Amino acid sequence: MPLNIIIGAQWGDEGKGRITDLLAAKADVVARYSGGDNAGHTVTIGADVFKLHLIPSGIIHDTVACIIGNGVVINPKVLLHEMDALAARGVDVSPACLQISRRAHLITPAHIALDKAKEMQRGAEAIGTTLRGIGPAYTDKISRTGIRAGLFADPEELAEAIQAHVEAHNEVLTKIYNMEPLDANVVAADFAAYAQRLAPHLVDSGVVIDEALRNGRSVLAEGAQGTLLDIDHGTYPFVTSSAPTAGGALTGLGVGPKVVGEIMGVAKAFTTRVGSGPFPTELDGDMAMRLRGTGANPWDEYGTTTGRPRRVGWLDMVILRHAHRVNSLTELALTKLDILSGIPEIKVCVGYEIDGVRIDYFPSDLRTLARCQPIYDTLPGWQEDIMDVRDFAQLPANAQAYVNYVSEQLGVPIPIISVGPGRAQTILKG
Ligand code: GDP
Ligand code: IMO
Ligand code: MG
Repeated sequence: MPLNIIIGAQWGDEGKGRITDLLAAKADVVARYSGGDNAGHTVTIGADVFKLHLIPSGIIHDTVACIIGNGVVINPKVLLHEMDALAARGVDVSPACLQISRRAHLITPAHIALDKAKEMQRGAEAIGTTLRGIGPAYTDKISRTGIRAGLFADPEELAEAIQAHVEAHNEVLTKIYNMEPLDANVVAADFAAYAQRLAPHLVDSGVVIDEALRNGRSVLAEGAQGTLLDIDHGTYPFVTSSAPTAGGALTGLGVGPKVVGEIMGVAKAFTTRVGSGPFPTELDGDMAMRLRGTGANPWDEYGTTTGRPRRVGWLDMVILRHAHRVNSLTELALTKLDILSGIPEIKVCVGYEIDGVRIDYFPSDLRTLARCQPIYDTLPGWQEDIMDVRDFAQLPANAQAYVNYVSEQLGVPIPIISVGPGRAQTILKG
């Protein structure tokens, strides 16, 4: 069986969690491959809402084994909190159901303190990070000074590594950022306790996934963030510090490209973004309020991890084409189509104009991107509430036309359309 990959096609929060939960019904293993608890993935099953940050969204299925892959950065405190919260709700998070790569890097309080210090120093140029220590943890990984989860199995070495790590970062925190130092002994003691609980979950995730695939089991790779937050292919520097794209799934799990089956992009029927940086189709005023919602509904556009209002705009095909190229998408899941109900005319950006010249690609340079004026197609909307529709043919004709338009523009089939946050609020299009 192949490895199927789920990838955010925009700036994150596309609904990857709910699509992963849906597809996990047919998977044996679900694995996260990048990011950390900067992710917030919502799974809604009836009245039960699960907000997952580190644990793969397949965990709600009791037949699915979940893996946190080597490409993920793990804050063990957050992970244990999430495990305890799930266990309290009857979800099995024992080592048989939840495994952690020995090669995954750890996020420490020093990384979080540095993330905050760096954001404060950036002032008006702040990236708007989630302040979860993601950038500093990946920085340590790349500069070969990080601490890997494998050390949970070796308490003495872990204690030494944490002491040295906190002392080294204290130098930077106090001398460069004028901040209070962290107490290395306290951090080491905390990590010793985390290690005791998490050591039984350690595996070589590449080997486990390879074995699963060889035994004919189906593996689903759950992306976090989105293509435009990719460290290389996103809106640098307003990006995260990992590779949420298809290449990242391979390096983040330790498998080669030949095992890959479907590569499913997840896109909202419009566009959102949290944090700073250019956003060509961004809206303000009444239409922005309309797309964002007031916060009264659980699915309104306020961050799952930070609670920040998300910036909103029309769907942007330039972005989706970029995501298609970067990821070789074989299919797309279109989410939140229900939110467009009642809007008389829906705009879709089909290209950009700069100084009278049309471009059809997503510029690499932010100064160029900031000057891009969207060129729109206008499609007729529909009035009906579609949250209870389960059959594509039952959608209003204009809603069908909207989905078909996106699919044709992109040259990718759209087999999944979601019309509400619930697991059942899904239209499967053959
Ligand atoms: P992720 O990070 O990609 O998993 O997405 P998030 O969970 O951060 O954000 C998606 C939000 O939209 C969550 O509140 C979901 O419950 C909600 N959602 C997902 N699909 C739909 C949909 O089709 N319709 C509506 N109304 N809400 C949805
Ligand atoms: P999911 O998986 C939306 C954004 C942050 C910020 C930038 C860098 O839920 O889609 P970081 O803390 O990673 O250094 O922040 O990336 N960001 C996300 N935006 N959804 C996410 O995850 C995000 N993860 C990071 O808002 O702009
Ligand atoms: Mg999210």
